[in-house]
Amino acid sequence: MKITDGVYWVGVNDTQTKLFEALWSLSRGVSYNSYLVLGSEKNALIDTVNEDFSEEYIRGLRRLIDLEDLDYLVLNHVEPDHAGSLSKVLSVAAKASVVGTANGIKFVRKYHRVLFNDIVVKNGATIDLGGKTLRFIDTPCIHWPETMCTYLAEDGIMFSGDLFGSFGAIGDQIFDDRFDEVFKNEAKRYFAAVLSPYAASVNRAIKKFDTSDMPIRVIAPAHGLIYKENPSIIKNLYAELSSGRFEEKVVIVYGSMYGNTETLAEAVAQGVRDRGVRGVIFNITQSEPSEVLSEIWQAPAVAVGSPIYDSFIFPPVTNLLELIKLKRIKQRVFGLFGNYTWSAAAFKQLQRSIQGLGSEIVGTFVKAQGSPVPSNIQEAEDLGNILADAAIQKVKETSGSTP
Ligand SMILES: Cc1cc2nc3c(=O)[nH]c(=O)nc-3n(C[C@H](O)[C@H](O)[C@H](O)COP(=O)(O)O)c2cc1C
Ligand SMILES: [Fe+2]
Ligand SMILES: [Fe+2]
Repeated sequence: MKITDGVYWVGVNDTQTKLFEALWSLSRGVSYNSYLVLGSEKNALIDTVNEDFSEEYIRGLRRLIDLEDLDYLVLNHVEPDHAGSLSKVLSVAAKASVVGTANGIKFVRKYHRVLFNDIVVKNGATIDLGGKTLRFIDTPCIHWPETMCTYLAEDGIMFSGDLFGSFGAIGDQIFDDRFDEVFKNEAKRYFAAVLSPYAASVNRAIKKFDTSDMPIRVIAPAHGLIYKENPSIIKNLYAELSSGRFEEKVVIVYGSMYGNTETLAEAVAQGVRDRGVRGVIFNITQSEPSEVLSEIWQAPAVAVGSPIYDSFIFPPVTNLLELIKLKRIKQRVFGLFGNYTWSAAAFKQLQRSIQGLGSEIVGTFVKAQGSPVPSNIQEAEDLGNILADAAIQKVKETSGSTP
């Protein structure tokens, strides 16, 4: 699939894998994007694909190039979804040199224990393919520590690795003219699931591009659509997601076996709406975690509810709290509610987890014993009011901030 003269998308679409990283739903699939750049003298492959697809990938490549003649294999990111087919490619492309950052080369040798030539590149280094100049840009810690981007100067194409990536297979319509709300949601979900802990690095990379002498006409990420018509759609979305700014909303997320915690959740949501603020409610056991994280990512205020279960917090809620911790979701305002029958002691675990996140807890912890009584419902609505007010306040405080 041609992008510009001499530049081709040679990736694959994965519509088989159910969970990305064995964690995140791929209900719309995912693409592993690889690119071939043909200069007048030399050629380069940028990233490969997940090894499960290496046969299909190499078959596609052979339609464009004799792999025996491949000069360079550039690795923007060595995670196996991109570098997984390296050994298979090199088994045919015997003379190719592998190009990467120092860490990239170091890490990839731990996965691919075959002999190959490497070229370690520093920020700003270039390789001339003959009328096609590749420039390597250090953008560390965009998912893994070794990441870089590759800029093709003559065409203004930024091969950006996971940066600007998105879930969702792209089939054979690879360009952004079909970008819509569904693709936007898949990009946000990808960011929340994969890149959110590295938001500061994402933000730094975007600023580096903006202040450099590298006009970007095309963004070619390692997952998702290729932004040729309007690269600023994805750049602006990623700039916003990595900015630390919030949307005016409250996310209410709860677990419930018999519906009592759910009743409290609905009362909290009512209290949020009464203040004219959007409330987004999730039953954790019926929701895709990346959807929940994606909503929480831009939410200044979050309500978490749990029943007590064998003297612990309900396990799916505990799991959510772990995800919130590892995705570095902090500086939020939290409200808590829950349901129990004989002892409310375990609710302290919920309090402690939230405090450990560096977030503030506001309002009363609403604890109902069995079916919520009117005073419990009132407390839950009050909590919704407080969270909505906090959300309004936080949006004001953080507009214009960066992480
Ligand atoms: C398997 C199981 C374990 C429970 N463990 C506790 C417990 O340790 N302490 C407690 O006070 N209540 C416990 N309960 C009672 C629940 O917290 C109570 O039924 C609550 O109302 C459930 O909330 P829900 O209706 O939102 O599911 C347990 C209930 C179940 C089903
Ligand atoms: Fe990655
Ligand atoms: Fe990736």
